[in-house]
Amino acid sequence: REDGKPMTAETRPIVIAHRGASGYLPEHTLPAKALAHGMGADFLEQDIVLTKDAVPIVLHDILLDSTTNVATVFPDRARADGHFYAIDFTLTEIRELRAHERRAPGEGDSTAFPARFPAGPGLSGVPTLAEEIQLIEGLNRSRGMRTGLYIELKAPQFHKAEGMDIARAVLDVLKDAGLAEASDRIYLQCFDPPTLQYLKDTLQTSLPLIQLIGDNSWGEDGDTNYDYLRTDEGLAEIARYADGIGPWILQIYSGRDESGEAMVTDLVARAHRAGLLVHPFTFRRDALPPGISTYRELLELFIGQVGVDGVFTDFPDLTVNYLESV
Ligand code: G3P
Ligand code: CA
Repeated sequence: REDGKPMTAETRPIVIAHRGASGYLPEHTLPAKALAHGMGADFLEQDIVLTKDAVPIVLHDILLDSTTNVATVFPDRARADGHFYAIDFTLTEIRELRAHERRAPGEGDSTAFPARFPAGPGLSGVPTLAEEIQLIEGLNRSRGMRTGLYIELKAPQFHKAEGMDIARAVLDVLKDAGLAEASDRIYLQCFDPPTLQYLKDTLQTSLPLIQLIGDNSWGEDGDTNYDYLRTDEGLAEIARYADGIGPWILQIYSGRDESGEAMVTDLVARAHRAGLLVHPFTFRRDALPPGISTYRELLELFIGQVGVDGVFTDFPDLTVNYLESV
């Protein structure tokens, strides 16, 4: 580690199952979450969007297109841009859909990650956040574990329905489940700084908050300056409302120089100096960054050398195995 200290139980980074064990089963399905629980992930990630009737469901895209059969079930419900938006469908309608492995954009039925579960017709539905909590808490009880939730609020400006905003809707579900104060087992994450500030200052949540930093692919949150968030001033500002950052891995490591040395930025060290945790995304065996040839090499760099505090990974089993081996 860059700080020269050995890893201990206290400094062992957390393993966050990114969309579940999504390297093996279709993302955000309950089977993918159960598998990640069995693999020993510390936290299971939920990306949350709102339905038309303001129910938080677990879905990565603001669209239903890439991971469900919506175009077959509701062929007439696309917007003018040809896409099917979750916010246009009630929960009753979404229950008619089947979720499948992510399809590659514009490439027919082929999957985004060719070696993964075949796209097929879909074996599972799209879960609500409440249903997923029921699964995780049931597994925790039956297995005597305390696996946590790591909940992302997707596109907060876009997800408002029936007078409800996505932050309040998520907190209501957590409250109903008796988890609104479970600060040792629940993180809330978002790309949108005002939403995190709203959670902290207005909704007064005691749950730890993580500022995601990266290209927000939906572009729905206005003109957030992600470069500013990575400056010392930006990090100091984040530290006033959040407990950590979730940067894209290429903001920490950008490849190898001519002599083969890993080019590592000082973002992690500066975030740590600002008192922030660092949980980068996304660690994938089948999509390694440039200059990295094995998944273990990737973990050795980020965990063994740089010293991040947690990793979002599609492959929780490989990550747990690595941590047990060092
Ligand atoms: O939430 C961390 C990471 O998941 C952010 O990227 O697009 O996979 O939600 P995304
Ligand atoms: Ca996410």
